Amino acid sequence: MGAILANRTYAIALATLLAVLVIAGYHGGVMDATWTIAFVVFLHVLSGIVWIGLLYYFNLVQIPTMPKVPAELKGGVSKFIAPEALLWFRWGAVATLITGLAAAYLKGYAHQAFTLQAGWRVIGTGMYLAVIMAANVWFIIWPNQKRALGLVPADDATKASSARTAMLASRTNFVLSFPMLYCMVTQLYLGGAGNG
Ligand code: HEM
Repeated sequence: MGAILANRTYAIALATLLAVLVIAGYHGGVMDATWTIAFVVFLHVLSGIVWIGLLYYFNLVQIPTMPKVPAELKGGVSKFIAPEALLWFRWGAVATLITGLAAAYLKGYAHQAFTLQAGWRVIGTGMYLAVIMAANVWFIIWPNQKRALGLVPADDATKASSARTAMLASRTNFVLSFPMLYCMVTQLYLGGAGNG
């Protein structure tokens, strides 16, 4: 068991297997439209946790701690940990966006939500905030991080200004994440989409 848990790929496979067992147990082989939507929302929340979990890691742990890391150790974070975290971060954002749009489409209210019609305003607001955050990841944070971390060539002044831009964009997403998440989870307590 230790060998499985110590290997990231095996651990992901084990988590997937356990989820499949739970799904098979509770749905008894019935995979209707409700099941499909529930499964897409499950994938949505899972990928959302990967994305926003790493956003919180950057903002609550890495960014505030970097100034305290001795100069000779900073490379360990910037050359090894940050690139790996950014990989999961940006693709987590894509998976969350696709599954979120799929959930709205499958439930038949994507248009009502994006036009902020009465009844769908809460989830629509959450979707707008999250789409802005995903665009921020791909069009501002990631290009600036590539320069800041030296993944693409840049002079020292450009690296420093890119690092600051990436940090401020990441903080913007952190600030947007609370109202975004509130909108995502609250719609259900209003009686589901159609009542917000
Ligand atoms: C990127 C764009 C996003 C879109 C288009 C989107 C869309 C949606 C939609 C349509 C629903 C409602 C599903 C339903 O009616 O059952 C939903 C629910 C939810 N979303 Fe998102 N979302 C996005 C990002 C996020 C992010 C970043 C998170 C962070 C974890 C998140 C977490 C959730 C949660 C927790 C729910 C509630 C699921 C439930 O209780 O059934 N979403 N999202």
